[in-house]
Amino acid sequence: MEKKKEKRQPERVGAVRSTTAGKNIAARKTTVDSRQGACLYPGGDVEGTHMILAVAHAADIKMKRGFGRKQGSWGDQGPYLDMGTQTVSGVEGAVRALALNGTSLAACRPATDEWVEWGFRRLAAATSHASEEEEGARHLLQELAVLEAALARCPRSLLTSEAAKPITTLADIVLAPLSLRALKFFGEHEYPLTRAWAASVVRGPESPYAATAALVQEGGAFEGTGGKIDPRRGLLAVITALFTEAMHEAFPELAGNPNFRRADVAKCGNAVHGDYQCNSPMAIYKAIKATGRPSVLARPQDVAKALIDSLPAKGHEVCAEVSVAGAGFINVRVQGAYLQARVKDILLHGPQAAMARKLRVLVDFSSPNIAKEMHVGHLRSTIIGDSLCRMLEFLGHDVARVNHVGDWGTQFGMLIKYLKEEYPNFMQDPPNITDLTGFYKAAKARFDESPAFKERARVGVVELQAGDPESRAIWKLLCDISRAEFQKVYDRLDVRLEEYGESFYNDRIPAVIEELKAENLLEEDGGAMIMWCGGKHQIPLMVRKSDGGYGYDSTDLAAIRYRLKDLSRDWVIYITDAGQATHFHMIFDAARMAGWVDEEHGRHRLDHVGFGVVQGEDGKRFKTRSGDTVRLVDLLDEAVVRMTASLTQRIEDGKSALSKSEACEAAAALGYGAVKYADLKQNPGTDYQFSYDRMLDTKGDTAIYLLFTCARFHSILRKAEEEKGIDVKALEAGGDVVLEHPTERALALELAQFAEALQQAVLELMPNRLTSYVFFLSARGTDFLEACHVLTHPKRLVLVHATALTIAHCLELLGITPLTKI
Ligand code: ARG
Repeated sequence: MEKKKEKRQPERVGAVRSTTAGKNIAARKTTVDSRQGACLYPGGDVEGTHMILAVAHAADIKMKRGFGRKQGSWGDQGPYLDMGTQTVSGVEGAVRALALNGTSLAACRPATDEWVEWGFRRLAAATSHASEEEEGARHLLQELAVLEAALARCPRSLLTSEAAKPITTLADIVLAPLSLRALKFFGEHEYPLTRAWAASVVRGPESPYAATAALVQEGGAFEGTGGKIDPRRGLLAVITALFTEAMHEAFPELAGNPNFRRADVAKCGNAVHGDYQCNSPMAIYKAIKATGRPSVLARPQDVAKALIDSLPAKGHEVCAEVSVAGAGFINVRVQGAYLQARVKDILLHGPQAAMARKLRVLVDFSSPNIAKEMHVGHLRSTIIGDSLCRMLEFLGHDVARVNHVGDWGTQFGMLIKYLKEEYPNFMQDPPNITDLTGFYKAAKARFDESPAFKERARVGVVELQAGDPESRAIWKLLCDISRAEFQKVYDRLDVRLEEYGESFYNDRIPAVIEELKAENLLEEDGGAMIMWCGGKHQIPLMVRKSDGGYGYDSTDLAAIRYRLKDLSRDWVIYITDAGQATHFHMIFDAARMAGWVDEEHGRHRLDHVGFGVVQGEDGKRFKTRSGDTVRLVDLLDEAVVRMTASLTQRIEDGKSALSKSEACEAAAALGYGAVKYADLKQNPGTDYQFSYDRMLDTKGDTAIYLLFTCARFHSILRKAEEEKGIDVKALEAGGDVVLEHPTERALALELAQFAEALQQAVLELMPNRLTSYVFFLSARGTDFLEACHVLTHPKRLVLVHATALTIAHCLELLGITPLTKI
């Protein structure tokens, strides 16, 4: 036994075995130019990308991000590294090359190399087999035992005999994340040494991984511009990247410090001083001072100066005036030529925005309950959810729009029994239930007054869940009626959803419970099965009720697992009223405990957007005059009716050129738009007061104002062509964009800020970032029209057109149909 183990332990093998990658690279060892650093083109392998970044960090090699795919002989797989004199593809090659070329990573010891090879070849392979077959799990067990034994000799770092002063080796950096992945197959108390060591390498305060996690989270936006400015990332991102490069150039010692991963750049509060400002000099000054090293930098202003001097040459394409200001920050004015180019982009390609990494997102929204009326809460969820989906889709993400309808709750026992009792002939003669809410109310009344019926209803649920055919038929009938009602609302609001209701997960629940049980995460509680999700929650999840039934919690556990594991979604977003926040945070924590989520490497992100209640103008819960909850459909109708009346009046007063049928369409766009915009412009978390008068106001921050502005810009273009005979298209193709008047420049700058507004709205899950952007854009546009004559200076029509396109596009992202004519 001892003998066998001996043979398997890589560190006992004296010399470097022919590790192909290692040998070849060692032979070609070059010293990386420390100023240039290396350039990483990240591939699909996110974990591998992290590993490469962590090794670069530990080896003290500056890393830049490459964009796009370089042409070359390698396949399209995985990340690759460009080190100036050599290119390396694949994770294993890249980490070895970095370790060999760096100065400060204990890497070149033969035994380290053996371990690295062992990690990639044996441990990683055993881990991927372990998920597939039982035999695989046994192999993994043996491999982990090797590691555990090695760590018993030196628990803090692999292969450093100097236990008192452990230095991180390449083997540590490579093996730690691989081991953490392998350990997921075992209980929390198994392999304690490996567990502790791996956790400290990956998560410890000085972990080389600390600097990498957040990078990938933000869509792979590494520091720097990677040698190329990509305007689609937005002005803020571009200027931030430029200053980050300057910072790492001027202060290389900060490059690995997580606090200085990125320069701090923001929009200027006061346009008089500049367009953007960099606030980093103060913090850099403090950090340098804290090292105690003597420095020529006497004041933060000196740091600011050093940053300006280090701005990459290409930065001047973007930044015109860069100056030190105040106690030590930097003001930036954007180049006019850069803004002109962005206006041209809009005319050629429409408004542009992009993020570095394409994500698989799932948005769970709307989700009304069968046999119940959709209420204003569902309206908010539908509006916010649809708008976020539109934005995510526009940014190029793959988005699943999921309607998690409540089609499986305990209410079905009651409804089924009531239907059977009221319509005993329902099979031959199916009742025509148009008023499902009335039906629901009647059933509920019987449920509340008759204990015997209550008991029959309870049995009804069990029968349905057990698959009784008659119960199923009634259930389906009820679902179909509801579904048709919901669809009417979605059609009006122009919202697309895919239904995966609660019932979809019913069959998946038992296996999920088994899995959680096997992980020792469940507790028995008076016949029920519960799960405590960490100390911060007062209550547990009800995984299985004492009567054996499954509820809301069980379904959401199965759903989140399905979304993360089966659908491989990177980002799952739930949109409901804020009252359900606790429920979702427990579900998220449960998923973390079950090991379904990998947030560490920025692979997954989970969010609950909880919105506030809709109130009437009296500040109380929104009710009709008679005290009933407001029906969604009525509410939408009312908005359209009011807009139709006001448009008809305009036509009669000769203020509108719309025909009767155009007026109808416009009234719908205005009415639905007004309801949507009033909702979206709020911070989702706050309550909002529903007021027709406010949302239908033609002035102020309303959809009506924006739609009027949008139509106004379009009508100017029409007028130019129809009345003045100006060929706007030819103007755009030929001429340059003129930005002479201050209002023209301010408008062009605002147009160039579309991408950052959109990215912010999406990353923070706040559509109100986009509403305030389009509101300001409209205001800038109006300023421009008031200050500059456009019909007498046709060149200005180019800017009019770009503005018209951008306003219309923002409205579309908010789910509002833009109008070109009112
Ligand atoms: N049907 C629920 C309600 O009306 C919302 C469902 C939200 N999604 C979820 N996965 N639980 O409140």
